[in-house]
Amino acid sequence: MSTLLLGRKDVADLLDMGEVMWVVEQAFRDYAAGCAQMPAKVYIRVPKGDFRAMPAAVPHAVGVKWVNVHLSNHERGLPSIMGVLILSDPDTAYPLAIMDATEITAYRTAATSANASRYLARRESRTLGLIGAGRQAYMHLQSHALVFPLERVRVYDVQPQAAEAFVRYFPQFCVKASSAEEAAMSDIVCTLTPATAPVVKSAWVRPGTHIDAVGADAPGKQELDPALLCSARVVVDDVTQACHAGEINVPLRQGLFQKEQIWATLGEIIAGTKPGRRGDQEITVFDSTGLAIEDVATAWMIYQRARERGGCQSMDMV
Ligand SMILES: NC(=O)c1ccc[n+]([C@@H]2O[C@H](COP(=O)([O-])OP(=O)(O)OC[C@H]3O[C@@H](n4cnc5c(N)ncnc54)[C@H](O)[C@@H]3O)[C@@H](O)[C@H]2O)c1
Repeated sequence: MSTLLLGRKDVADLLDMGEVMWVVEQAFRDYAAGCAQMPAKVYIRVPKGDFRAMPAAVPHAVGVKWVNVHLSNHERGLPSIMGVLILSDPDTAYPLAIMDATEITAYRTAATSANASRYLARRESRTLGLIGAGRQAYMHLQSHALVFPLERVRVYDVQPQAAEAFVRYFPQFCVKASSAEEAAMSDIVCTLTPATAPVVKSAWVRPGTHIDAVGADAPGKQELDPALLCSARVVVDDVTQACHAGEINVPLRQGLFQKEQIWATLGEIIAGTKPGRRGDQEITVFDSTGLAIEDVATAWMIYQRARERGGCQSMDMV
């Protein structure tokens, strides 16, 4: 028995967005059914960013992701988020693989949002607004294009050159929005920034909009006007993580939103134990903090593909 060593290119070659969407959807179903375990994320803060340890057990595999957010990394030509994941055999504890998790994070986050949009957005959604034009924006366009026949994508970034680069990359139907407000005038809006104050105001959002709030994944981060949360049907990926570090964490601490206002988890919606959207006029919000079950389920799929393909580097651990 040997441990597979899968670098970033190996992992990227084995990932397919449609497949990740399916795997992540199943992981949420398993978690809602009590067939997956996920202790809360552990955070370590350092002067230039933070680290997170994210363990989980899904059927067939146990693993832990070690990942960071360092916003100044772009100045050094490094991604702001990088990760590594150890995948173990639940029966023997043998480490099956050590793999890059930078790509896993990029794919599984966008796959989860597209699943949330699939369950919560209006079926006839045709326009997508992306606020923040970093790595996640590229992935969110990819995942949403698999679900919705998009006719127009509006992208906004505080750094105009980031939005311009995005539009050059996807020239067919993307336009640079002149403001977050313009991007928010879309059927589906994805907020993908590291903001610590609201970037989307309640008054800008039209009835019937679905929002994937993705950027807030640590205490103190926030992208939406709390009034917007209060007027929306709010679905979270995990109640404990969302209260601690998700989009609702700041409004909860400020007393502007109550835990009881959370309608459901995405797992409950996927499993059908709670209904999703009620009518075309409702605003729905998915609060994504990023779950370790998404990572470990995706890693298990990558491990299986790597074994099937063969030719990967490995090392012996016993
Ligand atoms: N929920 C999850 O599972 C999950 C997973 C990965 C990343 N994230 C979070 O999503 C966010 C984006 O991640 P990324 O990898 O795309 O980061 P990134 O650094 O590649 O891109 C972030 C972009 O947001 C822009 N931006 C910053 N403040 C803005 C504002 N107020 N308005 C508009 N644009 C603004 C930046 O200029 C940059 O282009 C981060 O906060 C990250 O921590 C969440």
